Parts: sequence; C-alpha cells; structure tokens
Amino acid sequence: MNKKSRPSLGPQTRAIHAGEPNRRGVNGPVVTEIIRSSTFTFSSTEEMKLWAEGKNKAYIYTRYGNPTLSVAEKKIAALEGAEAAVVTSSGMAAISSALLAALKAGDEVISTAQTYGGTYRLMRDVFPNMGITVRQVGTDLTSIENLVAPRSKVLYVETPTNPTLRLGDIRKAVAFAKKHKLVSIIDNTFATPVLQNPITLGYDMVVHSATKALAGHSDIIAGVAVGNSNWMERVRQMIIYLGGSMDPGAAYLLIRGIKTLGVRVQRQCETAMAVAKFLERHSKVARVHYPGLKSHADHKLAAKQMRGFGSMLAFDLKGGLPAARRFCDRVRLFLLSGVAGDSSDLQFALQHDGGRIAPRGRQSRNGARFNWFGRQRGFN
Ligand SMILES: Cc1ncc(COP(=O)(O)O)c(C=O)c1O
Repeated sequence: MNKKSRPSLGPQTRAIHAGEPNRRGVNGPVVTEIIRSSTFTFSSTEEMKLWAEGKNKAYIYTRYGNPTLSVAEKKIAALEGAEAAVVTSSGMAAISSALLAALKAGDEVISTAQTYGGTYRLMRDVFPNMGITVRQVGTDLTSIENLVAPRSKVLYVETPTNPTLRLGDIRKAVAFAKKHKLVSIIDNTFATPVLQNPITLGYDMVVHSATKALAGHSDIIAGVAVGNSNWMERVRQMIIYLGGSMDPGAAYLLIRGIKTLGVRVQRQCETAMAVAKFLERHSKVARVHYPGLKSHADHKLAAKQMRGFGSMLAFDLKGGLPAARRFCDRVRLFLLSGVAGDSSDLQFALQHDGGRIAPRGRQSRNGARFNWFGRQRGFN
C-alpha cells in the first residue's frame, strides 16, 4: 500500500507498529530484538569524527541510545502524539531529567501540591539545595497567578494525582503556562496516553512512570519523557550526564507491554467503575475516591478531559487505620503491597502513616486509605 492510500492508523495500532523495522520477507523475526550490546562500532575514524562533531547520528554506547530503546521511544511518542521520547531507568529518572533539562539555579517551579511522593520529595529535599525554588498550587489552580515570579520557569502538573485521585484542569494549566512563557511538564502516569494526550494540548513535556500501566506486568522499573525533538535532546543529555538510561532488556518488556496497553486500560476502567460503585454502597466504607463516580469532586472535569476514568481508585474505611489494617490483613485474592503497580489482578497499597510511602504530613487524615490497580490479569 503506498503512503497516500494508507488509511490513518489509530494510536494503538501505531504503538504496535511504530519504531519496528520492516518485517516483510523470509526469516524476519516478529518481535523486537534485544540489542544487549553496551557499545557499538564505527566503520572508520572519519565516521567517528563526524559523530563527535554532531554531523551524523550513530549508536555508540547504550547510555546515549540503543536500537531497542529507540523502538520503545518511537512507540510511546506515537501513543502520545509527540515528535520524540526518551526512555529512562525509572519514572523518577524521567521526572528529574525533564525538570533539570528546563531548570537552573535561581529558577522557580510552580507545581501542583499533590504529586507522587518521590516527586514531592525531590522538590522538597533536593531542589532547594540546587537553588531552585518550588511554589505549590492546589489541583484547582486557585490563585496560581499569585505564584508567578520573575524567575518562574516551569509549571509541573500531575493529574490524576497519586494517591488521592484529584484532577487538575489540563487546558487551564497549559494556557497559564503559555501566558507566562513557562515550560509545561505533566505526569501522565495515572491517565496513560490512552485516556489523555497533553502534548496535543500544547504541553512541552509529558513524563511517565512506565513501571505502571505502560509496561503493565510489574517486572520492570521504567520511565519515559515525551515531547518535541528539542526538548527530548535536552532530556537525553541529562540522562547521559546523570546516568538514568534504560536497560535494553527492560525496553523489550516495555515494548511488549505497550502492545496490550489499549485493551488493558479499557478493561481496567470498566472494572474500576464496577468496584467503585460496589464500594460506594458498602456499609463499612466511609468514602470512595474514583473520578468516575458522580460523588467525586472532579467528576465533571474527568468526563471533560479524559476518555475514561482510569484504573486506580482509593477508599477510606470507617474505623480508621485499625480497621484498614484488619481489612488488608484478611484479604485473600488481592495482594498486599506498599506500591501500586503490581501484576496481580487487583492489589492494595496501604498509604500508611509511617511516612515512608506517603511523605509525612501528606497521609489521609485517618490513615485508612487504600489503592488498588487492576493490571493485565484484571480481565476477570
Ligand atoms: C504518578 C507517578 N509518577 C512517578 C512515579 C515514579 O516512578 P518510578 O517508581 O518508576 O520511578 C510513580 C511511582 O509510583 C507514580 O505513581
């Protein structure tokens, strides 16, 4: 089929085929090869010289880039509707590298106050030592204009938030960033590219913990930053400096996971809604946090900006932490884990009050909040 007559492909189809070599013909492998090599060859010193001068592109060393990593990057860029992507050794490597690609000493970040604990701690414990000031805004973005200062450089948004499942208005946030010429970065982990595509709305960079839905089987730690080629070149430089590059074996598993992302997320949204409705009616449940429920504070916003309500929910039990612990200790099918993102059908992650999972001062008031993820086997 020539290019002109080719029908436009959906994002999931593109994610399956993007980045893969032409596999027609005899003896072609169907799946992506894992290129384990740390180092790559040149055919002459002239080629080496051209590479060193930035005049040609080549794989030289896996921390700089690798053919298996490139396949994963092209698939995720295709899913997000972006020009380019950089895969990383973890979600935190993607987040820190994206932020550091845009920031320098003296700059300021405006960030949603509710973010994944690791991001929150990075901004709280590390950025001040680097001379970077962080100003926080609620997910409703109220009074955000008051936070703008001459050195404001980045707007960082996470929506839906981990673990409280609050939403920020992604259109309003990016309009604010554009108005003040801020670099806009969004953590799209919980929404996944299946449910929202911030790049197409004008965000400069999207970051993911690919450990979660993108990979989908709890067998790798992985991350990715997505954006235009210029931004991704800067993120790649950060990865080269700081060393947060992905292993090719992890890239292979990420590629495999991405191929089923669409069906997994679709099914997880349905299952999450059914469980949320069940829990909402349950006499021992104080509150269910799921954007798909009409009772959720951000339900209307979720319906407006997401193509589904997501696979993650949290709920508070009556009876506080003791009741919550009793409940967790008795559950038989669901697995108990400190971190949401396991491969099991459904799983709990206790946000407990020790401050190790949820940073101190950020736990739910009664400490009785649980999260679960429907993962790939959550089809049942
Ligand atoms: C929303 C979100 N962003 C970022 C991260 C960090 O990702 P990783 O654990 O892959 O470094 C997580 C991890 O749980 C997360 O939930």
